[in-house]
Amino acid sequence: MKTIKIGLLGLGNIGTGSYKTLEMNRDEIEKSSGLDLRITKILEKDTERKRDITVSPEQFTQDPEEIFNDPDIQIVIELLGGIEPAATFMAEAMKHGKSVVTANKAAVAANYERLTNTAKENGVMFRYEASVGGGIPILNALTTVLKANKYEEVLGILNGTTNYILTQMTDYGLDYEDVLKVAQEKGFAEADPTADVEGIDCANKLSILMALTFGNYVPPTQIPTEGITGITKQNIKNAKANGCRIKLISSARMVNGKVEYAVKPMELPETHPLASVNNEFNAIFVKGNAVDELMFYGKGAGPLPTGSAVMGDVLEIAKVLAAHM
Ligand code: HSE
Repeated sequence: MKTIKIGLLGLGNIGTGSYKTLEMNRDEIEKSSGLDLRITKILEKDTERKRDITVSPEQFTQDPEEIFNDPDIQIVIELLGGIEPAATFMAEAMKHGKSVVTANKAAVAANYERLTNTAKENGVMFRYEASVGGGIPILNALTTVLKANKYEEVLGILNGTTNYILTQMTDYGLDYEDVLKVAQEKGFAEADPTADVEGIDCANKLSILMALTFGNYVPPTQIPTEGITGITKQNIKNAKANGCRIKLISSARMVNGKVEYAVKPMELPETHPLASVNNEFNAIFVKGNAVDELMFYGKGAGPLPTGSAVMGDVLEIAKVLAAHM
């Protein structure tokens, strides 16, 4: 069996979920792909934290160069979060001939052109399925089986934390702060939840979706963005009285040859398909000129759903690499 060695940058919530996905499904992965995927080095400061996985002390390193300069490592998974040093580490790994997988929407959205160009220039693969919609295979669908379409519209609920907060406030009348705490405990929220609740995480994801659908890269800072911090219990009550639910909607649509885009909370009638997408679930609605309307639904946050997308990308790259070994 061919072995593909992997370097992992970051063993936080998502790093642990990705590692665990590989650990718990190793037999199935080996059986279906004929490949032995090995995470041999992990860049992580916190080596003492209790994690529900088996990692030996020799796997840890404090020096990213050890991973970039390891000739046996062919794939680098970046799960550090934040824009820097994550983006520079990804570019560095590519320059050392490693293919890169990430779930880091902030780093991808802020550096979309730099990272996609660096991958091309160095002849390596770059995949970031987990960066949008957690476990939902939306980017793969948009860039492969739907590629024969002209896209007309993409919109959805792209943030699990805010959807969880709005759902719990709506269904149980709970307070914003209490629900945010639970979302953080469940590993949905970003290290700094400001990015979730202010809509910045959605803007990052919408920026990536627009680049892949309309071929129109708009930096997330240029997307009009409003989060949910201004939503009160009273707003939710009023919406309910009108037969509506408040959802944080990210949207981009082609209007007269121009893309219009925004992230903002909206009152949706209870009968609207996105109104019944609750808790950490995400949904993405896509309209293409040939396929017409499609909806993708699944868990948009959490270590294992995100780990599923990360390891799916790793496996796709590993198959290509193995074909040339
Ligand atoms: N904080 C993000 C969310 C994680 O809640 O959706 C997944 O991107």
